[in-house]
Amino acid sequence: MDVSQAVKQRISTRAFLDTPISASEIKDWLAAAQRAPSGGNVQPWRVIVVTGDERQAIVDLAGKTLMANPAGEATDRPIYPKGLGEPYMERRRRCAAMMYEKVGIGYDDKMARMGWMAKNFEFFGAPVGVFFVIDESMGHGQWAHTGMFMQTLALLAEERGWATCMQEAWGMLRTSLKTHFGLAETEMVYCGMALGHPDKKASVNTLYTERAEVEEFAELKGF
Ligand SMILES: Cc1cc2nc3c(=O)[nH]c(=O)nc-3n(C[C@H](O)[C@H](O)[C@H](O)COP(=O)(O)O)c2cc1C
Repeated sequence: MDVSQAVKQRISTRAFLDTPISASEIKDWLAAAQRAPSGGNVQPWRVIVVTGDERQAIVDLAGKTLMANPAGEATDRPIYPKGLGEPYMERRRRCAAMMYEKVGIGYDDKMARMGWMAKNFEFFGAPVGVFFVIDESMGHGQWAHTGMFMQTLALLAEERGWATCMQEAWGMLRTSLKTHFGLAETEMVYCGMALGHPDKKASVNTLYTERAEVEEFAELKGF
């Protein structure tokens, strides 16, 4: 598979088969993605990959924690900035509307939307979950570099016939995950990722989100 094809076909996959992925396949995948660049070659990421009983323990932990506190745990790194302006807010709304249409949930049906959102905390049925851990001392640059690593993993997953969904939703459980994983005092879970073989029959996986035209976000000067 060439890079263009991997970029084009990668989508956020939200329904998976239970086909397992082995530890050796995971290690090979991580080693390949480790070629992702980072400023100063700092490689600011650390990952924790879970499957089987460990994955289930996290699903149970999430269910229990969110039942008691549906708004999620306090964090000083919220998923979106306060007052997300335009055109960003409209893009976010549009993408949510398209997704809920695919799964037959009315945009105004808050309860059903919450039920769908809860699937995040079961990794959308994926057999593998990946957590990206970063040191709290890192700045915005290192968070961006961790994102490059994540996208590299997502593209390499395509090449292997796997699929991914990045999951900032796990940022709602930073305190519990920190305790569960025994992270160092200064470490935090930035993001999660669901990983597995895609369920190609699931209608949610036919969602192919829109993008702004090049003219909308790029200026070409001096050509
Ligand atoms: C860092 C990151 C975190 C994300 N977190 C979530 C999430 O928690 N739950 C979810 O369903 N989708 C999540 N997404 C998926 C985005 O909604 C998706 O990338 C966007 O709508 C574009 O669609 P596409 O990935 O299918 O191209 C996340 C994406 C990124 C890049």
